[in-house]
Amino acid sequence: MSANAATRKKLYIKTYGCQMNSYDTKRMEDILRPLGYDAAQDAVNADMVILNTCHIREKATDKVFSDLGRIRLLKTAKEKQGGQMVVAVAGCVAQAEGDVILSRARYVDMVFGPQTYYQLPEMVAKITGAYGAERIINTDFPIEEKFDHLPQENQVTGPAAFLSIQEGCDKFCTFCVVPYTRGAEYSRAASDILAEAARLIAGGARDITLLGQNVNAYHGRGSDGSVWSLARLLQELQNMDGIERLRYTTSHPCDVTDDLIAAHRDLPKVMPYLHLPVQSGSDKILKAMNRKHTAQSYFDTIDKFRTARPDIALSSDFIIGFPGETDDDFAQTYQMVEQIGFAAAYSFKYSARPGTPAANMQNLVREDVKDQRLQSLQSLIQKQSESFNQSFVNSQVSVLIDDFNAPEMRLHGRTPHNQSVHINLKPSDNVAGNISPTLPSAISPLPQRLVGQTLPVRTTSAGVMALHGSLVVA
Ligand code: 5AD
Ligand code: SF4
Repeated sequence: MSANAATRKKLYIKTYGCQMNSYDTKRMEDILRPLGYDAAQDAVNADMVILNTCHIREKATDKVFSDLGRIRLLKTAKEKQGGQMVVAVAGCVAQAEGDVILSRARYVDMVFGPQTYYQLPEMVAKITGAYGAERIINTDFPIEEKFDHLPQENQVTGPAAFLSIQEGCDKFCTFCVVPYTRGAEYSRAASDILAEAARLIAGGARDITLLGQNVNAYHGRGSDGSVWSLARLLQELQNMDGIERLRYTTSHPCDVTDDLIAAHRDLPKVMPYLHLPVQSGSDKILKAMNRKHTAQSYFDTIDKFRTARPDIALSSDFIIGFPGETDDDFAQTYQMVEQIGFAAAYSFKYSARPGTPAANMQNLVREDVKDQRLQSLQSLIQKQSESFNQSFVNSQVSVLIDDFNAPEMRLHGRTPHNQSVHINLKPSDNVAGNISPTLPSAISPLPQRLVGQTLPVRTTSAGVMALHGSLVVA
C-alpha cells in the first residue's frame, strides 16, 4: 500500500430525502476527496460520518434521530480503540433544528445547513485540529456562494446525473418547510450550469436531470446577458454533444410556460416525462394549501402537455389528510387521478411541520381516516403504473444502461419515460423466450462496456415498478 493510500480516510455520507440532497452529497464527496476522504458504503470505522438529512415530513426527521443513536455506538467503539470519528448532521434537519441536535446529541461535532457545505474544508480543519474541544454550527443562507465554490474538476458520475440549477422556494405552500430550510428562490447563471454539464458529460453522464425545488421558475443570467427561462436553458443543453437525454424536476403548475410546453414538442432530447405535483384535486384544499392554482387549471396544463407530446408520462405528488379535507375533497383527488391517468405518483399522509402555517390549523383529519384514504389512492396509482408499464410489453424500447450486476448477469437501465428496466443476460433465458438472438458466447467482457450505452430492448413483462426484457442484438 502506498503512503498516500495508507493515510486516506474513510467517509460515510447517508442521504435522506430528495434528489437535491443526492446532488449535495456528491458535491460534499467532491469537496472532501482532496482533503483525504474517500467515500464508503458504511459507517463502520469511518473517520467521518455525515447524515445529509430531510425535514420535509415527520417520518424522515424521526429517522435521523434513530440513526444518530446507531452512529453514536460506532463512534464510541472507534474511540475505545484510540481512533476518532467526526459526526456531522447536514441538510434540512440541521438547518431547522441545529441547536436542538447539538444540545440533544453531545457526540455530534458539526451541524451545517444545505447552503454552507462549501465551507467544509474550514469546518473540518477546525474540528480535527481541536478535536473534542469545539463544536460547529453553521446554518447561514449564502446560496450564491455555495454554487460559486463548487469543485471545478470533471465529475465522476454514472450515465444518469443530477445537475442543480435552482434552489429555494418563494411559494410558501402552507404545509411545506422548504422556504424555511432552503431559503429564497435562487437561479444559477447559465454559463455555470453549461460548464457543469460539460464536466458531467466528460465524466460519463448521458442523461441529465436538472434539479430545483421550483425548477421551472428558473430565471438565470443567460450566456448572452439576458434572463433565460428553463426552456431556453434546455435549448442550449440540447445543442451539447454527449447529452442524450434531458429531464427536470420538480416543477410547480403555476410556473409552466408555453415555451416549456413547446420544448417537449420541439427538443428531441427533452424526455417524454414530467413530474408536476398537484397535491390535491379539491379547490378548497388547494386554497388552504396556498397553491395558487385550481384543479381545472391543472387539468388544462396537462392537456397542453399532452397536445405537445401525446406520449408524455405524467407523475405527481399528493398530500392526503390535509387539515379540513372531507370525504368529498378526497373524492375529488381520487377522481382527478382517475381522469388523468399517471405513469407514477407519490402520495403522503399530511404531517404537521413545525413553523409552517398549516401546523396551526384546526380540523385535523383522524389518523385512521388518513390511512384509509392513502391506501385507496395508492392502490389506484399502482394499478395505473402497472397498466402504463404493461402497455410497453412486447415492444422495443430504448434503454440507457446504467448498471451491470455481474453475479446475476443482469443489466439495468431506464427508458425515455423513466421506467426502470431489468435485462437478463443469460443466453438460455433469451433463447427460451425466443425474443432476441442468443447473446455472443464471449459475454463476460461485454456487459460492463454496455454501461453508458443506449440499446434497444425487447420487453417481455412488466409490473408496477419495472419492465423486464432482453437485448435486441443486431
Ligand atoms: N406532509 C406531507 N407531505 C408533504 N410534502 C411536503 N410537505 C409535506 C407535509 N407537511 C410532500 C408534497 C411534496 C413532496 C416533496 O412532499 O407532496 O410535493
Ligand atoms: Fe414546498 Fe410549495 Fe415550494 Fe414546493 S412549491 S417547495 S411544496 S413551498
